[in-house]
Amino acid sequence: MKRLRVLVIMREGLVPPDTLEGRSEKEIAEWKSEFDVVTTLREMGHDVRPLGVFDDLSPIRQTIQDWSPHIAFMLLEEFHGVASYDYAVVGYLELMRQPYTGCNPIGLMLSRDKATAKRILAHHRIPTPGFSVFPRGQTKMRARQLPFPLFIKSSMEDASLGISQASIVYDEAALAERVQFIHESVQSDAIAEQYIDGRELYVGVIGNRRLQTFPPWEMVFSKMPDHMPHVATAKVKWDREYQKKYGIKTNRAKDLPPAVEKQIMKLCKRSYRALNMSGYARMDLRLRKDGRVFLIEANANPNLEYGEDFAESAEWIGIEYEALLQKLLNLGLGYHPPWKG
Ligand SMILES: Nc1ncnc2c1ncn2[C@@H]1O[C@H](COP(=O)(O)OP(=O)(O)O)[C@@H](O)[C@H]1O
Ligand SMILES: [Mg+2]
Repeated sequence: MKRLRVLVIMREGLVPPDTLEGRSEKEIAEWKSEFDVVTTLREMGHDVRPLGVFDDLSPIRQTIQDWSPHIAFMLLEEFHGVASYDYAVVGYLELMRQPYTGCNPIGLMLSRDKATAKRILAHHRIPTPGFSVFPRGQTKMRARQLPFPLFIKSSMEDASLGISQASIVYDEAALAERVQFIHESVQSDAIAEQYIDGRELYVGVIGNRRLQTFPPWEMVFSKMPDHMPHVATAKVKWDREYQKKYGIKTNRAKDLPPAVEKQIMKLCKRSYRALNMSGYARMDLRLRKDGRVFLIEANANPNLEYGEDFAESAEWIGIEYEALLQKLLNLGLGYHPPWKG
């Protein structure tokens, strides 16, 4: 294997220390994925330089000019605090003719904006919940007749920001209130979707032209009562105590009929292509009792933390963590942006 100069780009403040020793669990959680990627790339023999970025591109430019990295490992998820600007940073890397890991700028931009992504998916007849968009500043509530219950979320944010049990609404009054909540507290447009009651599945996809899917992972809510909707709220994703209380974990989805599993894989690949994605992604889906599958969201550059869904599901089919990271490097080096002609 060739020793590569790898510039790992991440948010300022998340540049990890060399060891976990003496750090609290809470501290580690902040930069665990950065730590895993940096230390593993080093263990693999690569020459690795972590770089923290907040609101200045010049260190990126400087390092590319001075050090000529073979590849930039893109772990940055925002620029000056704006999550949707990751596409612009990757665009800048392309302007500098710098190969990088993960998704290209167009795929990042399209998948980040949930409303735009859903319009494209609908055009391709990919099953995704029916929806209406409520732009900030607009007060008119029912843009389109969708039956209740509805699920209200931000059209731009991720990490379940602004998502709680109250995101599911059963009448006009609650809809109006929740849309207003998204406008004000998350400061973004809101999207109302048909609520899909069912199992919560995640599927990893990697590739540029030829795609590979990892087996479906499922979030299980083993101790959550039936009257509480089983959805991945912010508390479900981030609150350890809450996870323990309701028996929330993710694991290989069990007892999926092979035909359904095959259909899910196909749907994920079609969605990835429709949204012009490259590198790697994680698809969020929900499977209803009647066997219908819906794509909820396509996540470009998903969390690479060791032991998290994406890496775990790769390992399930024999792709160990080091091999996974090497695949991402190879895909980045093999990607053909316009500047390569
Ligand atoms: N239409 C929907 N019906 C049912 N649950 C949903 C719907 N949309 C989102 N959810 C739940 O909310 C979670 C977060 O929504 P998602 O669109 O994936 O946003 P994020 O970018 O914050 O992950 C999903 O994993 C799912 O559990
Ligand atoms: Mg999601």
